[in-house]
Amino acid sequence: MLFNLKLKAVKTSSKLLSNSCVVYFCKDNTGFDKLIKSKKLEINKPQVQIFKKEENAELRVWSDGNPNLILFKKAELNRKFNVDFFRNYLSGLITSIEKLYLKNLYIEVPAYNNYNEIFSNQMHFYQSFAEGILLGNYTFDIYKTKKAKPNNLSVNFIFDDTKVFQQSLAKAEAVINGVTFARDLTNEPANTLTPLEFANRVTKEFKGSNVSVKVFNEKELQKRKMNAILSVGRASKHRPQLLIAHYKPKGKVVKKIALVGKGVTYDTGGLSIKPTKGMLEMKADMAGGATVFGIVRAASLNKLPVEIMGIVPAVENAIDGNAYKPGDVISTASGKTIEVKDTDAEGRIVLADALEFASKQKPDQIIDFATLTGAVAVSLGLFTAGVFTKNDQISYKLIESSKSTYEHIWRLPFWDEYNSLLESKIADISNLGPRWGGAITAGKFLEFFVDENIPWAHIDMAGPALKHDLTSYTKDYCTGYGVRLISDYLEQIK
Ligand code: BES
Ligand code: ZN
Ligand code: ZN
Repeated sequence: MLFNLKLKAVKTSSKLLSNSCVVYFCKDNTGFDKLIKSKKLEINKPQVQIFKKEENAELRVWSDGNPNLILFKKAELNRKFNVDFFRNYLSGLITSIEKLYLKNLYIEVPAYNNYNEIFSNQMHFYQSFAEGILLGNYTFDIYKTKKAKPNNLSVNFIFDDTKVFQQSLAKAEAVINGVTFARDLTNEPANTLTPLEFANRVTKEFKGSNVSVKVFNEKELQKRKMNAILSVGRASKHRPQLLIAHYKPKGKVVKKIALVGKGVTYDTGGLSIKPTKGMLEMKADMAGGATVFGIVRAASLNKLPVEIMGIVPAVENAIDGNAYKPGDVISTASGKTIEVKDTDAEGRIVLADALEFASKQKPDQIIDFATLTGAVAVSLGLFTAGVFTKNDQISYKLIESSKSTYEHIWRLPFWDEYNSLLESKIADISNLGPRWGGAITAGKFLEFFVDENIPWAHIDMAGPALKHDLTSYTKDYCTGYGVRLISDYLEQIK
């Protein structure tokens, strides 16, 4: 983390503390004129003129007095404006002031009324400010031996209804706590985050909380005939585990949801080995699993009235003389058999046992998260996840949540005509379809193991789980994609 942050809401009338920076947003040049007038700010004319030019979006004014730095940022409701504006700007801002030795940051929160065309509700609007600061503060530097100790920075949101703002702060802090947990797990390299270490970290994170964690070790997996998970993990000295986190709210439970995540702690491709380039980012092949636990963390902190079971098979897809092979037939926990045609299509195999286990828990809904295919990124690009489901309502609601959280998701077709592409002559299903429509057939493979009476959606997040250039808070590290999206989705469940 860059700073040791303390976030709070303060009234307009509160006095600025020393070593401070104030940020003002203005809708347009007239707004800017009014602002400097009403605050009696003295800014020299050339600076004002330059800032007013269309191509300039930010003005930084230093002074000897307090505040030491005044920042003006244009927040114009033009065609480029979107729900991520404040989140993205503030996340970048926190990085840019790292070396300025400030102690206090003041951010004047503009009136919601000015932006209610874009933000569907006040909470979303306020939350985006706090989220920006918290997301931008993220770094993953535990392996750097030379690093500066984070300085204290108190971030004050100037907003007169401090109570309402404080509420949105608490919510944002809970959600970003989940995002950060997911990011830390995903960024951790595979030589430290083995399946067992994954299990230990999750156990530790939820210790003493309202979430209980169970871990099925290899023996337990054998007892349960979870041969799909066991086969993929067979070649690694780091033995496979199944991680289960159960959050049960205290009061009334509105729905029970199973969240399933791919937890491949490293994907070499197995005997169908990947080239070096393809392997580079494969420590993040457990991002779906990390997202699941990030969501559980956020939901439990926010005390959402939904019961959640997070189910994550954690394995390393490695290579040795004992590795599973193309041509093998695996008999899964469900009894259904898989013909292995490509050991690099391992995610769907481990998820087969996990989805069957999830179905047995009789949840009202199942959603799974997986960095499943390169094909999804070929279809949708790096910053958008694909959603695959027959359930129009779940799809609609996920896309709605995506609009307010700016975690992009888009639906791809899921017709049954794709099923025949996975036919196998010797087993019930093949783990490999043709090159075309690879993300869809991967989803179809998963569907084969889900109880068809349970509404289910599959999210392929191979693109947005890894760092990408969409925003200032996704460009440097694995992103924790999905935690904010699903936290919003779960919040809407009534
Ligand atoms: N983990 C990969 C998918 C992936 C690729 C995730 C790039 C993140 C970034 C997955 O296990 C895989 O290797 N999929 C294969 C499937 C193919 C063999 C059918 C792929 O996408 O090439
Ligand atoms: Zn693979
Ligand atoms: Zn994989």
